[in-house]
Amino acid sequence: MSEDADVRSHSAGGATRGSEPSTLLYVVGARPNFVKMAPVVTALRRRLPKARHVLVHTGQHYDRELSDLFFDDLELQEPTHRLDVGSGSHAVQTARTMERLEPVVESERPDLAFVAGDVNSTLGAALVLVKLGVRYAHVESGLRSFDRSMSEEINRIVADEFAEHLFAHSEDALENLAREGIEDRRIHLVGNTMIDTLVRLEPTFRALHTCERLGLEPKSFVLVTLHRPSLVDGPLLGPALEALDVLSQVAPVVFPVHPRTRGHISDPGRYAGIRFVEPLGYLEFLSLEADARGVLTDSGGVQEETTFLGVPCFTLRTTTERPVTTRIGTNVLLGLEPERIHDIAPLLEGDPPAHRIPPLWDGRAAERIADVVLR
Ligand code: UD1
Ligand code: UDP
Repeated sequence: MSEDADVRSHSAGGATRGSEPSTLLYVVGARPNFVKMAPVVTALRRRLPKARHVLVHTGQHYDRELSDLFFDDLELQEPTHRLDVGSGSHAVQTARTMERLEPVVESERPDLAFVAGDVNSTLGAALVLVKLGVRYAHVESGLRSFDRSMSEEINRIVADEFAEHLFAHSEDALENLAREGIEDRRIHLVGNTMIDTLVRLEPTFRALHTCERLGLEPKSFVLVTLHRPSLVDGPLLGPALEALDVLSQVAPVVFPVHPRTRGHISDPGRYAGIRFVEPLGYLEFLSLEADARGVLTDSGGVQEETTFLGVPCFTLRTTTERPVTTRIGTNVLLGLEPERIHDIAPLLEGDPPAHRIPPLWDGRAAERIADVVLR
């Protein structure tokens, strides 16, 4: 594309407004993207069987445990294009996504594209699509932590700003978008596609009993995931691991370690009570999540899944972009304070907390997205 090219109107994929799209393009790149996008691809393939469904994997996540395993577990179609972007600084990762995605979009000429969530691949893809004048939808739109030191917050704001369709999963998201002045006609409350995946695969992961393979009783152990830079890239990780080691005297602690975090644990043997394991595939992880006594996390998706499953969740962050999980769900925001991990043991006593499942987290969000696309 020439340097001075303007934003172009892009209807060359064959379909025009009002007719059925003939080419749809879906961009994924990181672990949570696969879980959110899989049901959207499935629903639209079913509803538009004659259309071309192009799946682009940016390659932001590339380890088998963070990528291929998810394609298998989720039965996601093979990527049509792999961009092999890999790891790097935010600028490098975003720039590589843009450079490598642009020719793919120019050759595929989709009528509509989809991006999901808030990772760097999402940002790069949104910028390429809007600059090529390709209409795109943002799945999981409107989440805000109101903390602009999180790169995810920047990525979400940009992805929302230029999207033609903003697919929101909660009332909180609608309010955030309205506050930012985004027109109503672009916003659709459809529910949570990450929960669609959970609902579809619940019978499969419930039958796995992964905890027994690890020698653990159901509802006896604490499952841990930590990967946010604010926690794992700095001095807070050591005290958090020490506190988890202490917690392991009360309940077994299982910690599937994200590769970012692995790079910062130089001496895992120091924390003899913690059971460190490789990152798990979706089905094994959900099996553990469903059978856990409690979960300690800084993940966005895990806060939502535990709310749906009714499993007590403790979030080691100062903010959450998913306040519905603390208001009506099982999520407790501990703050970014490792010493608060000591509060978990007494909170695990007794019955699990009462909770409600947020409206439209019912396994049918992707069908509602397809309704909007076909309307
Ligand atoms: C990214 C997202 C984050 C999301 C998380 C989900 C951004 C800015 N961050 O964080 O929002 O919650 O994914 O897991 O997009 N690495 C590997 N193998 C891999 C991938 C990464 O070893 O397959 C290592 C590399 O050392 C890399 C580091 O992990 O530098 C971080 O990866 P990156 O994709 O930059 O960010 P995440 O921490 O995974
Ligand atoms: N997950 C997984 N295996 C793991 C850790 C997480 O399958 O070892 C799943 C988790 O159930 C959820 C998704 O990965 O579906 C969340 O991804 P992550 O926590 O990496 O990203 P975030 O949601 O924080 O952006």
